[in-house]
Amino acid sequence: MKKQFIAGNWKMNLSLGEARGLARKICDGLADSEAVDVGVFPSFVYLKDICDILSDSKVFVGAQNMNMEKCGAFTGEVSGEMLKDIGCTHVIIGHSERRTIYQETNSMINSKIKAALFNDLNPILCVGERQEERDADKTREVVESQLSGGLDGLKSEQVKRLTIAYEPVWAIGTGKTATPEQANEVHVFIRNTMRSKYDNDAAHCIRIQYGGSVNSKNAKELLGQPEIDGALVGGASLDANSFLNIVSEAVRFS
Ligand code: PGA
Repeated sequence: MKKQFIAGNWKMNLSLGEARGLARKICDGLADSEAVDVGVFPSFVYLKDICDILSDSKVFVGAQNMNMEKCGAFTGEVSGEMLKDIGCTHVIIGHSERRTIYQETNSMINSKIKAALFNDLNPILCVGERQEERDADKTREVVESQLSGGLDGLKSEQVKRLTIAYEPVWAIGTGKTATPEQANEVHVFIRNTMRSKYDNDAAHCIRIQYGGSVNSKNAKELLGQPEIDGALVGGASLDANSFLNIVSEAVRFS
């Protein structure tokens, strides 16, 4: 079993006061146990505050997105170097909301992953199929092309730093979760794909999180699956108790 990684994607939610409060509650509520890795992903404007609050804790702080360029005339954008500078260690790349609403392509995602690694940030690469793709039995095809495109040109040593989040789009924010078996099946496929593209070592090192309506009730069953190494949690990460309950479930399987 691998050390599980539970990440909270706060999306575009919370006031500054609420974000600070949530970070403090998570920090205070975490047992000393090093058994599970925990990370929070606040909105850009709160990152520095949350990094400061959690600087002496074991909770990672990361961004929900970043730009692939180093610096320059990119109004409204944030670079990997800036994220590193304020203390972020992680960054979510290719979330389905970025792919769908902001038309991020696999090639953009690939450039962002390279820029993140260049800046010593650990990327969480999100992949997952839409409902119509699952219905058309195209889940593997879609996930395979997201992995090939997103990881194009990366070496085994680099991909080992990645976390992959399998997030079926139809399960995000809908209350519909993949069954543990459905999720595990895709995780096995992702692991095998990494083995054939890279090597055993890379396939073994990479943690594969499940995401999509994870909550304190369904976490146990999902995290208990052999190939699920953690969760990327949206809605349920906005409440300290639910998030901490998910972390406690993960402790059993780390
Ligand atoms: P959800 O979001 O837990 O609210 O479904 C997950 C995500 O988008 O990462």
